Amino acid sequence: MRQPLVAGNWKMNGSLDSVTALIEGIQAGLDTVSTAEMAVCPPFVYIPRVAGLLEGSGISLGAQDVNDQESGAHTGEVAPGMLTDIGCRYVIVGHSERRSIYGESDEFTARKFAAARKAGLVPILCVGETLEEREEGVTEQVVARQLDAVIDLEGIGAIGECVIAYEPVWAIGTGKTATPDQAQEVHAFIRGKLATLDTDVADKVRILYGGSMNPGNAADLLAMADIDGGLIGGASLKPEDFLDIGRAGNA
Ligand code: PGA
Repeated sequence: MRQPLVAGNWKMNGSLDSVTALIEGIQAGLDTVSTAEMAVCPPFVYIPRVAGLLEGSGISLGAQDVNDQESGAHTGEVAPGMLTDIGCRYVIVGHSERRSIYGESDEFTARKFAAARKAGLVPILCVGETLEEREEGVTEQVVARQLDAVIDLEGIGAIGECVIAYEPVWAIGTGKTATPDQAQEVHAFIRGKLATLDTDVADKVRILYGGSMNPGNAADLLAMADIDGGLIGGASLKPEDFLDIGRAGNA
């Protein structure tokens, strides 16, 4: 049985005061979330503060991005070992905003994935098609290509030790969610593709849905056979909404 994971991607939002209030709000209702693992991914600079607030809470901590190098002359970048050093368990790699706004390739994403694992982090690998790609009917090819870049570099076994997030780009921050059937179709494709290489890996890997998941649609999405949680942007900034999504995963 795969434990659902509900992870908040705060993106470039917050202040010392607001992240403190957000964590306190989540903690106040955490006992109502009985099944899902909850995680938050704050902006880098707030991670130490959040790590302190989370101590002993059972909420997991992650980062939103990472560099592929261990150290050195990479002005402005953050190394994987720095993230484990400050208490992160997860790191998002290959988010579509990194791919589209900052031009990060499948290969670079795969190298980040590898570096993250080497440092002991669990990568949350984001894959997903643009609206144009969906309309052209190439969703599966795009998702397969994004997965293959990682499998080619790290092997199928590594996929069993990560989390995948299917995030259709057209649904991110747009209020437009994939229907449960549309999402399930791609999740099943991903699991099926992995199963051709290793059925144990396919069975155990958690595949999250991301893209305007909110308290109104979470239960229907999480009820689908191959949807094992969510990567939540906007709704993760409101404690009650984030908790509602967590509760939608209660068994
Ligand atoms: P959203 O973002 O929930 O605001 O659509 C999801 C994501 O980008 O991870």
